[in-house]
Amino acid sequence: MRMYDLIMKKRNGGELTTEEINYFIDGYTKGNIPDYQVSAFMMAIYFQKMNKRETADLTMSMVNSGEVIDLSEIEGIKVDKHSTGGVGDTTTLILGPMVAAAGVPVAKMSGRGLGHTGGTIDKLESFPGFSVEMPIEKFIENVNTKKIAVVGQTANLAPADKKLYALRDVTATVDNMSLIAGSIMSKKIASGADAIVLDVKTGSGAFMKEEESSFELAKEMVDIGTHVGRNTVAVITDMDQPLGYAVGNALEVKEAIETLKGKGPEDLTELCLALGAHMLVLGGKAENADEARKILEEIIASGKGLEKFKEFIEAQGGDSSYIDHPELFKTPSIVEVVKSKKSGYVKGIKADDVGKAALVVGAGRETKESVIDLSVGIVLYKKIGDFVKVDEAIATIYANDMDKKKVSEEMLLSAYDIVEEKIIASKLIKGIVTKDEIIKY
Ligand code: URA
Ligand code: CA
Repeated sequence: MRMYDLIMKKRNGGELTTEEINYFIDGYTKGNIPDYQVSAFMMAIYFQKMNKRETADLTMSMVNSGEVIDLSEIEGIKVDKHSTGGVGDTTTLILGPMVAAAGVPVAKMSGRGLGHTGGTIDKLESFPGFSVEMPIEKFIENVNTKKIAVVGQTANLAPADKKLYALRDVTATVDNMSLIAGSIMSKKIASGADAIVLDVKTGSGAFMKEEESSFELAKEMVDIGTHVGRNTVAVITDMDQPLGYAVGNALEVKEAIETLKGKGPEDLTELCLALGAHMLVLGGKAENADEARKILEEIIASGKGLEKFKEFIEAQGGDSSYIDHPELFKTPSIVEVVKSKKSGYVKGIKADDVGKAALVVGAGRETKESVIDLSVGIVLYKKIGDFVKVDEAIATIYANDMDKKKVSEEMLLSAYDIVEEKIIASKLIKGIVTKDEIIKY
């Protein structure tokens, strides 16, 4: 087999066989096929697309390019959740304890973030002493006894995807349905999930700006999951503004604590209930989403979710007294409000730009080597539909460097779109895709 022939076949609109896809993934992972051929191949796929079978084959080939985590010693149905991008996405911190409290095992492999804010692990490290370093046996034991544990991701998870994603990123071939779907699903499948709940973002801050293409992407991923025996459900949600109010590591942890107490932002709470409900159904803990939602509401109201969060933080060496005393989290030296220069209604808040404004003050990593400042970030006060007056505070910036704070402030102000006419915020949850149906709200 020759890579040249595969490129030509796809360029001319042909369908790749399973063997051809395996040949390509294997050769590229091992370094036998050069980047320039794969670049051309990705562009051919971008224009000619792949069908369902090719997409499922690509996914499984990427799964098998590295280690496949075996979680079979964990009792129960392991349900994983994935969000397709999102700024200051705190849902994992809230959903984990909530669904664990309902008895669904949460065995999470997580990474450190690059860009915007840190990943889940960085956020959790806001608790002094918290660690994700543990032998796999300990990880499994914790999930079996406490229903929740988070461990660092092995470097060898879907290595083909790691290489391909980096190449797509610099060859303008990221936004192809099959390639995105395969990329995301390969990592979920390799990390041992039995069932998967996807949060597919739509809107200005998402890969898919149009609702219709977001539903298509969701369907593509649900079909892959179904094809390889993983029960998969996707929830399509709005990303025309950041979720919740906090963007930044310790700030998001505090927001998660508030949400587990039932006092969190409305949109964040709603999203966690919606995603969590599907996790409970797939995990076999409820008959349907309505019943599951009631269980989760009770878990918040009774404080069981917050208790589970404490138990989890302690089990991994963290100081859980911070949960009852969030004022213990370090506050940076600069805490300043940002005042609006205009008056009117908030029409949109570019989530990416808010993310960048948080990155500038040190909440995220510009390169893999950057050191994150866990204490810094942004808390928004105004969201879509809110009225704001000139000189009224729209956000607070938490920083440790005045020059960086000033840059961040400019970025934040330009992230806001403020208009004269009254704006009605659109629905957060746009619909659901399951293996049997597509429901649009
Ligand atoms: N996230 C991924 O992991 N892969 C993609 O291709 C796009 C988003
Ligand atoms: Ca947030």
